[in-house]
Formats: sequence, C-alpha cells, structure tokens
Amino acid sequence: MNKKKVIADTEQYVKEEMLADATGHDWQHVCRVRNTALQLACIENADLFVVEMAALLHDLDDYKLTGDASAHLPRATRWLDRMGVDPSIARQVLDIITHLSFKGADVATPMSDKEGCVVQDADRLDAIGAIGIARTFAYGGAKGRTMYVPGDEPVQHKSFEEYKNSTGATINHFYEKLLLLKDRMNTSAAKDMAEKRHQFMLDFLRQFSEEVGL
Ligand code: NI
Repeated sequence: MNKKKVIADTEQYVKEEMLADATGHDWQHVCRVRNTALQLACIENADLFVVEMAALLHDLDDYKLTGDASAHLPRATRWLDRMGVDPSIARQVLDIITHLSFKGADVATPMSDKEGCVVQDADRLDAIGAIGIARTFAYGGAKGRTMYVPGDEPVQHKSFEEYKNSTGATINHFYEKLLLLKDRMNTSAAKDMAEKRHQFMLDFLRQFSEEVGL
C-alpha cells in the first residue's frame, strides 16, 4: 500500500463529495480537522496515517448528513477497501469514526487510542470559537431551524436518541453541546486551544442576548 497515494486519492474523493455542502460539514471543515488533528498527532506521537485517514473520512457517513444513525459506515468502509488499506488499519480508522461524534450532554463518547483522541479533539475544536458559531448557524439554517425562540430553554440530553431527535432553536445548541466541549477535550494541547474559543463563544452569547433581549 502506497500511503502517500492513498492519502492523495482520498483527499480528492472527499473533496468532490463534500465541496457543495452547506451545513458546515464541507470540504474546508474536513481540511481544518485534518490539519489540527495532524498538529495534535505530532505532539501526542500518534500514527499520522491513521489520523489523517480518519480525519479525511470522518464526516462521509455522518448521520446528520445521511440521515442514517446506525453504526454502519458504508461509504468509508467501501473506500478503505477500494484503496487496499490493510484490514487492521481500516478497522482502526472505522472504529475512530464510529466513536467520534458528540451524542448528548449525558452520553460519554470515550476514544480507545491516541489516534482517536486527536481526531475527536480536532473535530470538537472546529465546533467551537468563531468557526463553531458560523457552522452552528449554517447547520441550523440548512435544517430549517429558527435562530432563537424566547422562552425556549435548552435541554440536557440523556441519550443519543433524545439528542439526535431534538429540534430546538439554534441558540440552544450552544448550551446543549458547544459550551460543554472545552471540558471534553482528550489532550492537553487541545484543552489549551479550546479555552480561547470557549471564551469567545461566551462573549458572543452575552452580546447576542443583549441585542435580542433574551
Ligand atoms: Ni466533523
């Protein structure tokens, strides 16, 4: 297996698949996650090929985009097979992707290896800060959600089922997920990076509430 060629081909494939996405899960999101994950992987001494492949493929089968919340990853699985990736590496990549997503305030999503830890951190860092705010409203708009509803309180979801079926206003998502991510980072480098982004969201929410009278 020529790892360099596999990465280049995967990049091309994912780019074509995600270029037109308007939910905040577009190709630029994948690029940012890949770059941050590789940066963290160097610090953590994680396997760069596994990290890069998992980062590139991580949103291809996302339930938020495909509507399929089962644990199957048909597109990523087929692609790894087509690329001739060693079965043990393919399994590790698929395992990381399966356990990556946030599934509700009260639902733990532990990663079993350092490769998974850095990809999860990178994906979560991209969900907070200025880019996180932009992506949240893009996603809400794409799904037809209102921005805010006076009197509509955030919910602490106790199961993945409850979390994925929630249809609340976009602003509630900050309290139901985004403000919780800082304390869920796996690596200390990601924790440091999350701090500034978290503060920025708090400032944004303060200003938002003031302007709209929430
Ligand atoms: Ni993602």
